[in-house]
Amino acid sequence: MRNDNHRIPLLEGRRVSKYFGGLAALNEVDFAVYPGEIVGLIGPNGSGKTTLFDCLSRVQDLSSGQVFFKGEEITHKKPYQVAHMGLARTFQVIRIYRKLTVLENMLLSRQWRGETLWRQLRPSHRQTEERAKELLHFLLLDRLMHEKAGNLSGGQQRLLEIGMALMPDPDLILLDEATSGINPTLIETIKDRIRALNREAKKTFLLIEHNIHFIGDLCSRVFVLNYGQKLAEGTPEEIVNNEAVIEAYFGADGGENDVE
Ligand SMILES: Nc1ncnc2c1ncn2[C@@H]1O[C@H](COP(=O)(O)OP(=O)(O)OP(=O)(O)O)[C@@H](O)[C@H]1O
Ligand SMILES: [Mg+2]
Repeated sequence: MRNDNHRIPLLEGRRVSKYFGGLAALNEVDFAVYPGEIVGLIGPNGSGKTTLFDCLSRVQDLSSGQVFFKGEEITHKKPYQVAHMGLARTFQVIRIYRKLTVLENMLLSRQWRGETLWRQLRPSHRQTEERAKELLHFLLLDRLMHEKAGNLSGGQQRLLEIGMALMPDPDLILLDEATSGINPTLIETIKDRIRALNREAKKTFLLIEHNIHFIGDLCSRVFVLNYGQKLAEGTPEEIVNNEAVIEAYFGADGGENDVE
């Protein structure tokens, strides 16, 4: 789906800035993601991608600028409030409870909607368990439901994290490097599941990725950050042929970036 100015963005950032001391991790970044899109967010290491996710999911406060979700300003909301509105995210460093089972991890993820653990485990919450099992089946993890999460492979843990993000039935999912360190077969699985969630369940995605093939296969549009600023925006094809982007990745001090 293309950027369509007649529609209200699902997620919008206006002049989003974030300073850490004197460092501008984000410098007046403007962007919009429309309902039904899969948008890529790329950029060299340290360019501000995760910081942008932190600001959007309200894990970090903005230094200045505004963020809107479903047309409502969320700049000053708490993480659980935006989660409740339908915004979910995963983290670059996997956050799961390694000693709990896969299913228990899924049930715990409901906490983000403000429910207590006690309420979740009550029999009346069987529906929650059913949903968790359905999602695990969809993510090809049902076989591992009673396995300790720490015993899963890196790729399976990523899938579990996606499952946990999906538990509250969000409309928008922010994925931070969902494919990093994962074998090619599981990357295909993740790609296929994202596509199915987008087409069949109408979920919108914003993906941070270093895997340019993954971006090219899934995304209709891509934003590029460099030193906290938006360097370029376009189709994956436009982006890989953009001179400024090539320079940012492979130029003088960009040679060590882990683009794949
Ligand atoms: N909590 C923090 N305190 C101080 N500086 C930070 C903090 N978080 C991020 N930074 C700095 O902000 C800049 C952007 O970091 P960020 O993690 O957002 O980059 P990134 O694009 O996600 O990089 P990568 O591709 O390596 O994950 C970096 O210079 C980083 O060192
Ligand atoms: Mg990052």
